[in-house]
Amino acid sequence: MHCVREVTDNLYWVGANDHRLTLFENIHPIPKGVSYNAYLLLDKKTVLFDTVDWSACRQLLQNMEYLLGDRPLDYLLINHMEPDHAATIEEVLIRWPQVKIISNDKAFLLMRQFGFHVDSHELISVKEGDTFSFGDHTVTFVAAPMVHWPEAMVTFDTTNGVLFSADAFGSFIALDGKLFADEVNFDRDWLDEARRYLTNIVGKYGPHVQLLLKKAAGILDQIKFICPLHGPVWRKDLGYFIDKYDKWSRYEPEEKGVLIVYASMYGNTEAAAQCLAAKLCEQGLTNVAVYDVSNTHVSYLISEAFKYSHIVLASVTYNLGIYPVMHNFLMDMKALNLQNRTFAIIENGSWAVKSGDLMSAFITDQLKNMTLLNERLSLASSLNESKAAELDSLAAALVESVKG
Ligand code: FEO
Repeated sequence: MHCVREVTDNLYWVGANDHRLTLFENIHPIPKGVSYNAYLLLDKKTVLFDTVDWSACRQLLQNMEYLLGDRPLDYLLINHMEPDHAATIEEVLIRWPQVKIISNDKAFLLMRQFGFHVDSHELISVKEGDTFSFGDHTVTFVAAPMVHWPEAMVTFDTTNGVLFSADAFGSFIALDGKLFADEVNFDRDWLDEARRYLTNIVGKYGPHVQLLLKKAAGILDQIKFICPLHGPVWRKDLGYFIDKYDKWSRYEPEEKGVLIVYASMYGNTEAAAQCLAAKLCEQGLTNVAVYDVSNTHVSYLISEAFKYSHIVLASVTYNLGIYPVMHNFLMDMKALNLQNRTFAIIENGSWAVKSGDLMSAFITDQLKNMTLLNERLSLASSLNESKAAELDSLAAALVESVKG
């Protein structure tokens, strides 16, 4: 049975939702699912914009067969070759053997690498600035390298103002019937997952996202719809989401506040983290989030690190090093290029307190443009009243820094 939604005149969402996949890219948990978006344009010629993950193949084909009826599929336009969108290319080619493929040379190379038999089809290689007409609709192409793979491009329909934005402006969470961002409470229910998607998938490539945003700025007044490959379609308040993407990709904090992430083996470092959180709130700094690094998937911590202006790392010393899960968090911040944050340290150890110096060195030497507060809370096994002044001083320094 088909399951489609109309985006605008003659343009349909023909994708599918996935609640079965546990780990996106086999690494990031997606407890609320994900959508694979593909779009079908019924102009004088018919055009499929991208395909879907292999798991959604049957739904895509049923959707296309329903909308096309007796019409052929004239063009398959591929903006992005990652298999969560491109795995079904071969199945489309088999069913519509006359289809012509529009994409770029890098993408055609990847199609061959993935084993798709594209060379028996007419291949139309496009580059930035080229235009192509399907009848009433004319599209133009904009290169979007490393957003999120090197071949990625976005396609803009100059006739109806639809931007097919590939991975840009995407989000985790299955659509479950709701296609448009204005059909959900995005700020309340989706923003955290949109940030987690962007920062973990494309976080490393902020400058490339910035480049794409600069190109989009030139046609901003013409963009009426943003159709990403995951998550809802935007037709209202586009500036809200563009602004979020701008902040995230510039590595600017979304909010002034404090993220406290602790690594605690027996609850003593956790208690110190909680005491600090209470002190901050007591002083009116209530935008505070506290996480246990050991039972929070690092993708959530990365998303929160991109959100908050200040980060407190509280870690035990383990084998004379940083607690391994905390070290993994630091490594992920480095890999995803997080910048422009202010850090503070809580360290703990029962005979050799090393974690503070090691975390400080990592922040200073391996992360970019970070500020490290001088105040540090150093614990020998547990927090006690003798440390009250140190704790107060750390809290005061954080409050002053956040307010400043
Ligand atoms: Fe959703 Fe880079 O693919």
